[in-house]
Amino acid sequence: MKERKIGMISVIRNEHISSGKGPEFLSEQATAAAHRIHKGLAIYQPTPLVKLDAMGKRLGIKAFLVKDESKRFGLNAFKGLGGLYALTCVICRKLELDVRRISFKELEKSEYQAMIRRMVFVTATDGNHGKGVSWAAGLLGCEAHIFMPKGSSPMRAQAIRDVNPKAEVRIMETSYDDTVRYAAKMSEEQGWYLVQDTSWEGYEEIPAWIIQGYTTMVQEACQQMEKWQLAPTHVFVQAGVGAMAGGVAGYLANVYKGSRPKIGIVEPENMACIYQSAKVDDGAPHEAADQKPTIMAGLNCGEPCTITWPILRDFADWYFKCPDEVSAYGMRLLAAPEDNDKKVVSGESGAVTAGLVAMLAGKQEYRDLKQELGFDEDSVVLCFSTEGDTDPEHYREIIYEGGLQYE
Ligand SMILES: Cc1ncc(COP(=O)(O)O)c(C=O)c1O
Repeated sequence: MKERKIGMISVIRNEHISSGKGPEFLSEQATAAAHRIHKGLAIYQPTPLVKLDAMGKRLGIKAFLVKDESKRFGLNAFKGLGGLYALTCVICRKLELDVRRISFKELEKSEYQAMIRRMVFVTATDGNHGKGVSWAAGLLGCEAHIFMPKGSSPMRAQAIRDVNPKAEVRIMETSYDDTVRYAAKMSEEQGWYLVQDTSWEGYEEIPAWIIQGYTTMVQEACQQMEKWQLAPTHVFVQAGVGAMAGGVAGYLANVYKGSRPKIGIVEPENMACIYQSAKVDDGAPHEAADQKPTIMAGLNCGEPCTITWPILRDFADWYFKCPDEVSAYGMRLLAAPEDNDKKVVSGESGAVTAGLVAMLAGKQEYRDLKQELGFDEDSVVLCFSTEGDTDPEHYREIIYEGGLQYE
């Protein structure tokens, strides 16, 4: 499909959008078990949905909403939703328990513990997913092996160790995608349980559980918006492998059906595999064309998740790729909001959607694109700030030392 570059933003409009139902595994019924498992945790609280009234007013839209996932389970990112639910499903399968009836707490019973403690979990991660898996395994006293790609932040590695004393964390010399292959190989060789947040041919069930887990944050956002009598007209979601974005898009298509919001998928320009797949437009997933470093570590993935690519192919309205400056702009806007708007601590992978929306709606050079998007006084725009300051040093550099200013 045709791509356009406007200012620093590249965009593709989806020419083959589906008006059909979302996938069955992301229906309200199919995701109910994941929501129940999360809500049964003692630590559970819905994360805040922050309504940025002053910013919305300045941008000329009805509501600008940011779901603050830095508050999720004390993990500073949304990813634990997927890791915890998938790990629960893996254990239930092993113990022949019904995940639709059990609570996570019941797994702590001594009759189950002997078997569970022998289970070892493994994953590859750029930080947040590994922390979620490590944490969930730690809650049940299990060992976890976490592999991180070359260049990963040592602070993020330490954060993974901190949530589970039995976590072994190693920073590798390989790319994210090769680190995933290594974790899969180790799982086969060692008999460890691979809980990976992306899928490939033959490895689809566990990622599907992870994706179902992510929908808890979408369900909460829908309920929170309902209290304000708002329904989203536009939802912007960032993509690494696209598992989270696919979960959001598929679930929203099921919840809102014919009146579903417009969806924008947002990636770093140097690592945009969903964008590239849309551009090639042969229906199949494709690797990112350019693969260079980005500050958006959570989005630093070159190969799409095979389960969610078809959802993003059929249900996303636009695909965007942007430079790191857009993320830095979003981080600052959310860190120092206007008037009485509430501050959101949003990290590199969390803030790119808010940065993009603010640019598209607020800057003159994007006025034609703003019109194409249909941003106006009736627009209710929802973004997911999927992480907080998961790399605190870098966060400070961007916020307080003005790193990565755009021209
Ligand atoms: C903070 C954050 N946001 C978004 C994503 C993207 O998720 P996905 O890889 O499912 O596209 C990640 C992935 O690690 C992440 O850590």
